[in-house]
Amino acid sequence: MRVGVLTGGGDCPGLNAVIRAVVRKGVQGYGYDFVGFRDGWRGPLEGDTVTLDIQAVRGILPRGGTILGSSRTNPLKSQDGIRRVKENLAKEEVDALIAIGGEDTLGVAARLSGEYGIRCVGVPKTIDNDLSATDYTFGFDTAVNIATEAIDRLHTTAESHMRVLVVEVMGRHAGWIALHSGLAGGANVILIPEQRFDVDQICAWVESRFKIRYAPIVVVAEGAMPKGGDAVLKDGSLDSFGHVRLSGIGEWLAKEIERRTGKEARTTVLGHVQRGGTPSAFDRWLATRFGLHAIDAVRDEDYGKMVALRGTDIVRVPLAEATARLKTVDLSLYAEAEVFFG
Ligand code: F6P
Repeated sequence: MRVGVLTGGGDCPGLNAVIRAVVRKGVQGYGYDFVGFRDGWRGPLEGDTVTLDIQAVRGILPRGGTILGSSRTNPLKSQDGIRRVKENLAKEEVDALIAIGGEDTLGVAARLSGEYGIRCVGVPKTIDNDLSATDYTFGFDTAVNIATEAIDRLHTTAESHMRVLVVEVMGRHAGWIALHSGLAGGANVILIPEQRFDVDQICAWVESRFKIRYAPIVVVAEGAMPKGGDAVLKDGSLDSFGHVRLSGIGEWLAKEIERRTGKEARTTVLGHVQRGGTPSAFDRWLATRFGLHAIDAVRDEDYGKMVALRGTDIVRVPLAEATARLKTVDLSLYAEAEVFFG
């Protein structure tokens, strides 16, 4: 049995832990061979491979990023993409492919497996935690920890200068990072894409904080939108899956707060810091278990599935189901946080 492995989409901490677990159990437990494909779906599309054996995965458990590289290449958008992927997999004598990615990478795996007979198993990654069918994706916990530490630090400097500090976090169209880090960091306002915000209300919360001599920290998800406004785009470009690039709402909001309240307001955009560096212990644990279960799915020839966390169990769910819709924050969960606002 020869197994291909690829990592696609935005990188996140824990990718290497999955690769290591897949290879270790595959080689030591089942005697399989592996081949790594470089840069997500670009690897199978262009036949770009890398050696993947026990030696290649030594020491990579705590390393952020991915030894295989990543990209947002969509083979379904390339001319002859499917034929080329199939040919390159056949050339490499790949029997099964493990795709580690988010909704885009796994959406491709779902189609290649459902419509074109390519034997795929998916592993859910993303700092955004927006994949359906799994309680958590790996990478999310690390991002939340990084954002929480930043919020802790911003509290002390905000209070020294009695300023408003707006912290913009990632998450695309889901508010998971904002909600979890905002709660963990004791933010005074948390804004998520799932609920449009009212700038006057935010200003009222900001003013009430200053009255009790506390400097407000406002956590805003990059995809959050004011009532009557649109998401702020970094530029007009779209990636090959048609996604816009977000970022800028933090800067916009700080200016509005300053203009309306007269209080000094500054912005910190955490950006890719949330995606870099070593994975948290939780993400190493989750990524490792996902990897072990993904290679078991290959052994069982249970293709077209994604491994998923349900409670403390790892289960297998159809790739098509897991990628059918985004998992966004339930408004009842968001409402729980409101008692801390203002
Ligand atoms: O999906 C992960 C993510 O980090 C999002 O939170 C963010 O909107 C996007 O990727 C940024 O993408 P890029 O790597 O293209 O800057």
